[in-house]
Amino acid sequence: MKRSLLARGISKTTAIIIIVVIIIAAIAAIAAYVSAPPARTPTTTSPTSSPSPTATSTTPTATTPAKKLKFVVIGKSVHPYWSVVEAGVKKAGEELGVEAVFWVPKTENVQQQLSTMDTYISEGVAGIAIAPSDPDAAAPYIAKAIEKGIPVITIDTDAPNSERLAYLGTGNYKAGYLAGLAMWHLLKEKGYVKPGATVKLGILTGSLTARNSLERIQGFKDAIMNCSEKDPDIKGNINIQFLGPYNDKEDPVQAFNLALSVIQGNPDIAGVFGVYAYDGPAWAKALKQAGIPPGKVILVEFDVTSDNVPPIKEGYAQVTVGQRQYFMGYLGVKLLYNMTKVGWENALKQFVPGYPDNKIYDTGVDLVGAEHMEFTAPTGEKVVILSLDEYKKLAEELGIPPELLGLG
Ligand code: BGC
Repeated sequence: MKRSLLARGISKTTAIIIIVVIIIAAIAAIAAYVSAPPARTPTTTSPTSSPSPTATSTTPTATTPAKKLKFVVIGKSVHPYWSVVEAGVKKAGEELGVEAVFWVPKTENVQQQLSTMDTYISEGVAGIAIAPSDPDAAAPYIAKAIEKGIPVITIDTDAPNSERLAYLGTGNYKAGYLAGLAMWHLLKEKGYVKPGATVKLGILTGSLTARNSLERIQGFKDAIMNCSEKDPDIKGNINIQFLGPYNDKEDPVQAFNLALSVIQGNPDIAGVFGVYAYDGPAWAKALKQAGIPPGKVILVEFDVTSDNVPPIKEGYAQVTVGQRQYFMGYLGVKLLYNMTKVGWENALKQFVPGYPDNKIYDTGVDLVGAEHMEFTAPTGEKVVILSLDEYKKLAEELGIPPELLGLG
């Protein structure tokens, strides 16, 4: 070989270079073969059994692994409440074998929410669930996504005047109404509800645009006013003064400062209502700071989280409205996934009772307090308040890890 190469006029040096190159190429080829992962066989994504919607299985046809579907869930603020939603999102993503992204701004921020949504629309993700802090501002973005073929649903707080396909979350007016019934009952037990009395009630919230906040406040006020009319001991003979709603924009520092100034400015305040998860703990901290003993001012809050449980255990909060936000994340991703598999309409029909006339899936709430309590409100509703232990058991039965709710 050496001789024949030389015979064809190739220099000895050139021949050596060619041989070295051949050897290096051979070694590289062997190395690539050894380290290459085994060819992927197509997998079938079969979600484990779960509450509806049951996800549809698919079998990718190509042998090359298909790019994972990507779903995005946009929340409202950094808080343990939203960490529970995130856990539901991640769980659904794992079960379905899809990419499930969760995003929230630090505090209420309409612009950041919507610019993030816009980025994901441009990326062409497979579906979006959003809790719009401002439903009117969100409507054009929702329309843009739908036009691009990206299904959009709302969770936690609705935008019914937009093109969102469905709302998956708490029935907020009803939940606020329940909070009001509990407040009336506790105020009366404490002796604040008497004929001719003036009763001051402070309201603290994280948004004055988000519908969940507005609906809860309306429900709360309606319940109080209806009870005052229907209560046979009062028959409307009472002066209810609502203070607020004060808006902390889902910022815990602002929430505490507002709560403290309301309490200090109204030493005769009888009850306070925490509309968002931030607000109950802010009221409790302010009551403590103002030197008011636990239970003197009735506190009804929202949510069961690691932040909301301590005020109940310490006796500052009497009742909290526990949302089932885990399912907003978990079922939200599953519903969007199904839409991409069986078509938007089919998936919605399977999941939302009464669709298309009804586009709301109510995830439900439970009232929770330090101890089990039952009463019939003056308006006729029978109200049950679960103890923290009972609620922990319920969470376990529903498949929500209790540690996520601050009940570990
Ligand atoms: C509300 C959310 C809010 C969260 C934290 C919850 O009660 O449903 O909309 O972001 O509290 O403030």
